[in-house]
Amino acid sequence: MDTAGNYPRGRKTGGEDRRVDLSVSIGPLRLKNPFLTASGTFGYGTEFDGVVDLSRIGGVVTKSLTLCPREGNPPPRICETPAGMLNSIGLENCGLETFVARKLPALAALPTRVIVSVAGESADEYAAVVERLAGEEAVDGFEINVSCPNVKAGTSFGSDPRLAGPLIARLRRASRKPMIVKLTPSAPDIIDVARACAAEGADGAVICNTFPGMVIDVRTRAPAVANVAGGISGPAIRPLAVRLVYLAHRALPGFPIVGSGGICSIEDAAQFFIAGASAVQIGTANFFDPNLLNRLASDLEKYLTGQGLSDFRSLIGNMRLPA
Ligand SMILES: Cc1cc2nc3c(=O)[nH]c(=O)nc-3n(C[C@H](O)[C@H](O)[C@H](O)COP(=O)(O)O)c2cc1C
Repeated sequence: MDTAGNYPRGRKTGGEDRRVDLSVSIGPLRLKNPFLTASGTFGYGTEFDGVVDLSRIGGVVTKSLTLCPREGNPPPRICETPAGMLNSIGLENCGLETFVARKLPALAALPTRVIVSVAGESADEYAAVVERLAGEEAVDGFEINVSCPNVKAGTSFGSDPRLAGPLIARLRRASRKPMIVKLTPSAPDIIDVARACAAEGADGAVICNTFPGMVIDVRTRAPAVANVAGGISGPAIRPLAVRLVYLAHRALPGFPIVGSGGICSIEDAAQFFIAGASAVQIGTANFFDPNLLNRLASDLEKYLTGQGLSDFRSLIGNMRLPA
């Protein structure tokens, strides 16, 4: 670390003394290992200071950022569910201006990759955020969250390949930085959306965001979250997400997939890798096991050694199908 608190760039991508090579690339984005935080579950990278050693993970994905600050939905906004949680946070975030002034300097000093999640209600809003951050050295890449509602079309960009493709094409013109798109399982066909984004230059896709869900308090007969419905995350959605990763990897070989959904252990993460994910994100587990991120790289090394593999990349999509 230099006197300004900055780590040399190499600390973001390597420098670990490991017998097994855990590095992986998502398009042009090189990661020292395949573990990322999931947007919205890890703040702006510094909230877990003293708990998580960020030099042990491949990267941090920020809370989704919009052009203007957003308060999000009214409380209550979260509720525990069997094997998971329901949230209706509604993209609460500090907005672009505050992000640049107050969050970016700390993010620049992190010893890991920094991916900024971008959200918006129109293509213009997404483009304004990407254009402003395109020249910032602290930003190693973008994650385009297409799960939020598009006001004009009345649906989310991620639900329709005819909206998602042109959005990625426009953002691709705004920045050459690595760009992955975060897809929603609510799309009628998530593979069609992934294909459209890949065709327009996305470097990979996160599969997937939360699944729509609802909980009702039968005593009060009121919904558990004020927004009535929300998104389900945690182990409950893991088998659903693993299947989508498997289908996407088979349909789009060579297009990097980042798995997301209910990962709580190396065994959970390995399922995603075997299904075809090049990297994974840890979300809800951060709330009940913040130490997980500290363990995953070592646990992966042990798992690979046990499998007789010396290179993480040889695990990706390496599934034994029944004869
Ligand atoms: C409280 C909460 C807030 C979230 N906020 C965002 C967000 O701002 N942007 C986004 O793309 N995903 C958001 N997500 C979705 C997560 O990033 C992740 O994709 C999803 O929760 C599934 O992974 P998990 O089961 O490991 O949590 C949020 C999830 C939770 C639980």
